[in-house]
Amino acid sequence: EDLGIVAVGFSGGQGKVGVDEGPEVLIKSGLLTQLHTELGYNIHGDDKVHLYPELLPKSQDDDPPYRGMKNPLAVSAVTRRIAEQTYEHSRQGRMTLTLGGDHSIAIGTVAGVAKATRERIGRETAVIWVDAHADINTPEDSDSGNIHGMPLAFLTGIAKEEREEYFGWIKEDMRLNPRKLVYIGLRDVDKAEKRILREHNIKAFSMFDIDRHGIGRVVEMALAHIGNDTPIHLSFDVDALDPQWAPSTGTPVRGGLTLREGDYICESVHQTGSLVAVDLVEVNPKLAEDQMVGVQETVRAGCSLVRCALGESLL
Ligand code: ARG
Ligand code: MN
Ligand code: MN
Ligand code: MN
Repeated sequence: EDLGIVAVGFSGGQGKVGVDEGPEVLIKSGLLTQLHTELGYNIHGDDKVHLYPELLPKSQDDDPPYRGMKNPLAVSAVTRRIAEQTYEHSRQGRMTLTLGGDHSIAIGTVAGVAKATRERIGRETAVIWVDAHADINTPEDSDSGNIHGMPLAFLTGIAKEEREEYFGWIKEDMRLNPRKLVYIGLRDVDKAEKRILREHNIKAFSMFDIDRHGIGRVVEMALAHIGNDTPIHLSFDVDALDPQWAPSTGTPVRGGLTLREGDYICESVHQTGSLVAVDLVEVNPKLAEDQMVGVQETVRAGCSLVRCALGESLL
């Protein structure tokens, strides 16, 4: 099977340095080699990490806040380019794997894959968003101004914007239908985000639901909501895992998924046979209380999630 890789060293969707080094560390630890030799994928595209220097405004002064968003021109330009890359892989029928970078990059990955899938098979893509956070703040609702907390607001069209250079490039054929969005793992959702989830009737399974029903039943319900025969994009924020398993991330929240629960989600989504794209984001090798050990653990967890999503199984 063919696998298109997009490795994005981008951190402009949030304020901490280091998340731009995530993809390099994941690749250096041997992830792509494993996908090739152990899972048999033909790897397309480049294993080089894109930093997109030509797209970035020359200085912070050239990219002032807009509607309260930080680095809006940079994030918009980079995600627009990522959308072209994932579109191209997905259009050719490749499984598309994006390694981040902060979660703002999903603006690009989801937009590109959604457009390709509409063109290729005439279907809307569903998104399973595995995260401690809902990442659906509108710019006006956001307390932080960090765009990694907003991707789903732009992708669903809940946040509207006309100007091309500020995400106005996201056209109808790139959008995500809110009925095709399902969350798993939520535990730190802002007040305005809770209102959005309620108003738009968005399906969400929090850690409470996982405690109550168990991960097996939750994944079953999530997949039932999406329905058979719908292409699936899995966007996995490593902070969905408990910091015990993934401490090296910018916005850790205690009380998260175990490594096995995370792997189980990925394994189950793979088993549907409907998976078309995977993102793994928010691995920040510069952050960890106990540097060495924490970083290694996080990278190992991230690699394991990706391998499970792409078909590694226990037996
Ligand atoms: N809700 C918070 C915000 O809007 C945190 C978002 C964290 N997002 C992430 N992709 N880690 O800033
Ligand atoms: Mn998160
Ligand atoms: Mn996220
Ligand atoms: Mn398989």
